[in-house]
Parts: sequence; C-alpha cells; structure tokens
Amino acid sequence: MSFELNKLNYAIDGLAPFMSQETLEYHYGKHHQTYITNLNKLLENSDLKEKSLIEIIKASHNVDAAIFNNAAQHYNHIEFWNSMMPNGGKITPTIEKVLTESFGSVEKFKEQIINAGLGVFGSGWVWLAKDGNKLEIIKCPNAENPLVHGKTPILGCDVWEHSYYIDYRNKRADFLKAWFENLINWEYVETKLQ
Ligand SMILES: [Fe+2]
Repeated sequence: MSFELNKLNYAIDGLAPFMSQETLEYHYGKHHQTYITNLNKLLENSDLKEKSLIEIIKASHNVDAAIFNNAAQHYNHIEFWNSMMPNGGKITPTIEKVLTESFGSVEKFKEQIINAGLGVFGSGWVWLAKDGNKLEIIKCPNAENPLVHGKTPILGCDVWEHSYYIDYRNKRADFLKAWFENLINWEYVETKLQ
C-alpha cells in the first residue's frame, strides 16, 4: 500500500489571510508531500507496509524513528488540514458544552491551548486529546501525537516554524490566536468526539 497526499476541503487560498496560499503551497504541497514520499520509500523494505497508518505509527514508535516520524507527520497533517476551514472558528453548541465541562469555559480552553502551543519548545504539536471520557491538552515534540500515549487525537495544531513563519514570522502567539479564532472547523472536531 502506498500513501498519497489527501485533498484539501478548500481552495489553496481558502484559508487566507490567516494562512496564506504561499504557506499552503509549501506546508501542504512540499512539507507534507515529503513526509509521504519518505514514508513510502521507507515502507518498501518494511514488514509494516501492509498495515494501516495508525498501526504503522503505533508499531514504529520507539522502534524505528524514521518510519515513525514520517508516518506520524502524515497522520498529523491530515488532521490539521481537515480541522480547518475558510471562515472557521464558529464554536458549535455541543463543543461549547464539552469545553465548558472540561476546562471551565471556551475562553479558558482557548487560553490554555494557546499557552500550551507557545510552550512547545522547538518543533512540535499541541493537541486536544480524549483519554477515556476525559479531555486534555497535550504538548508533543516533533512528530509525536496522542495515539502513542493511548489517547485519541481530537484537534491538533502544528507549531513547527514551517506552519507560521511565512505569515507570522516569529510570532507563534499571533498564529495560534488566528488559528483558534478564524480557522478551526469545529463541526469536524465534533465528529472526532464520537
Ligand atoms: Fe507541518
């Protein structure tokens, strides 16, 4: 089985001005594509080649760093693209209820996930994850995601510099705020909770 770049659910300039066409061309068209190209090449001589992406991520974690990094980054980026939309940021009633139950309020959740994203040292991801019935925010270095901790990824934000440097330069906080307020597809996030 060979992996392919997933189609975006919006035009390449659909997330502008919060995430520009140029960022998508590099981040989706080049960085994400490179993880897939590398993964397919690495799997050619691996016992994991017939497995699903999630099985590959779990089996390669702490076993084969090259396969893990490329497989996890493929998964992470699919989730990242799918969890954004043009004119996003509109919280659904179900999401508002769930976030209020877990974090006190939507505002408190927003503050916590932005602060966690700012707290990822170097490259990595910030995730909202489900552990049993509990929701939590997790900071992950490099390609890591909640799957390797036995948790379900609900919403992830890529805080590698390639995610924001063209549009926000070094201002990761501005990027995280714009992502939260204008890009998140909360209806998609809601489907992940089921
Ligand atoms: Fe990325």
